[in-house]
Amino acid sequence: MRLAPTQAAVLEAASATEDRTIERLAEELGEKPETVTGAVFALEEEGLLDVSEEEIEGVSLTEEGETYVEMGLPERRLYETALELDADEEPVSMGEVIGRSGLEGSEVDIALSNYARKGYGEIDSGELSATAGREEDEEADALALIAAEEPVTDESVLDDLTRRDLVARRESTVRSVTVTEEGVTALMEGIEESETVGQITPELLTTGEWEAVEFAEYNVEADAAEVVGGKKHVLRQTADRVKDVLVGMGFEEMDGPHVDSEFWINDALFMPQDHPARTHWDQFALEKPEEMDNLPEDLLDRVRSAHLEGVGEDGEGYHSPWTEEVARGMDLRGHTTSLSMRYLSGEAVGDLEPPQRYFSVEKVYRNDTLDPTHLLEFFQIEGWVMAEDLSVRDLKGTFTEFYERFGITDLQFKPHYNPYTEPSFELFGHHPETGELIEIGNSGMFRPEVLEPLGVECDVMAWGLALERLAMLITGAEDIRDLHGTLADIEFLRNAEVIY
Ligand code: PHE
Repeated sequence: MRLAPTQAAVLEAASATEDRTIERLAEELGEKPETVTGAVFALEEEGLLDVSEEEIEGVSLTEEGETYVEMGLPERRLYETALELDADEEPVSMGEVIGRSGLEGSEVDIALSNYARKGYGEIDSGELSATAGREEDEEADALALIAAEEPVTDESVLDDLTRRDLVARRESTVRSVTVTEEGVTALMEGIEESETVGQITPELLTTGEWEAVEFAEYNVEADAAEVVGGKKHVLRQTADRVKDVLVGMGFEEMDGPHVDSEFWINDALFMPQDHPARTHWDQFALEKPEEMDNLPEDLLDRVRSAHLEGVGEDGEGYHSPWTEEVARGMDLRGHTTSLSMRYLSGEAVGDLEPPQRYFSVEKVYRNDTLDPTHLLEFFQIEGWVMAEDLSVRDLKGTFTEFYERFGITDLQFKPHYNPYTEPSFELFGHHPETGELIEIGNSGMFRPEVLEPLGVECDVMAWGLALERLAMLITGAEDIRDLHGTLADIEFLRNAEVIY
């Protein structure tokens, strides 16, 4: 039988009576494991070798684990110092033991939290006692075994060490081979090495030699390493798609500062200065750099008057204090409606004649409590339409059209209150996995108290939608923290698709 040289060598190195791993064959033959693996698969296909696979769990030390093999576990070092200070007879001050132990930084916390757990003694009101005669430490022993590449059989100790991030466990596949009967026959009849060509070259073609040589066969079914390329983050994919959809619906994009004056964030929106959302419970206040102190004076006057006296014949205003100082305060914007104010006032791109449509997909910041649907920062899909005679039907129609592009067709609207819109609506959609109704946005028609000071004489409908919530509805993620941040599952990020 004729075989390629590596195949012939592998077949000869394998045994009919004993399993040999590919690693071992590679070592014996002085070949790379990948080369031997390729030859093994080819021989298996020829029926000359049997291949068996075993999943094994490998255990290795992390960097921290290696440090402790050298230095000793922190709790063990604490215990040994405690014994030197006779803490097995009488409790000693914790500060003294720690000082003398030489433990530093995070090691101190690690030592203290494992000390009592492992029964080395007790810690009580700043004093530390030690249990006498603890010669052994199972975790330290296991670390030493792993360092010496010896097996550790106690699973629960391994679990503890894994939890402490001192060892890492990895699954891998080990392949072993034995020579089949057919293989034995072939070996007995004699193997002839054939020189096979792996790649066709211009020389082979021009000399006509290609007709005489034997080509290596490709095994397209052989295992190959999985290649994971870079890709756009699922949230960015969603943001880009949102932009495409809105541009397709005739909107232009707004941009503007993340740090803005309260004037643009709140006052222009007819948010009373004593509104609960304007406290540090809700917004992030910042120190004010001088150069940002540039508000349009005439607009400032008109907004002040809207707050104090109201607008129109029977306008009322708020009857609560309003000061320029508060309006000039600086915040991280809690919504991008600040951008809408900058554009509608003419401040951003000059006076705008109706009809106009604008949007942004930008980050906003709120002092919220973290939970499955809230982070301290998120992306808002801001938008507004300025035109004569707009109604709530236009608003609902716009949302229906927008969300349909993402396959969301069961929107629900709930009457709501915003100081700056009347009427106002919250939007809800069903979560595809849990069926739960989740809030996805807030909207309304801007009030005269907002529009008149801005100098806008027609209707404006506006909204702020949550990009992360939209991404949750599209991908089925159940927790906003599954989308980004340390808890996000890498497999999800690799595979999630924003389908449309
Ligand atoms: N600013 C609102 C929010 O953050 C959204 C909104 C914008 C509502 C414009 C109405 C009009 O919830």
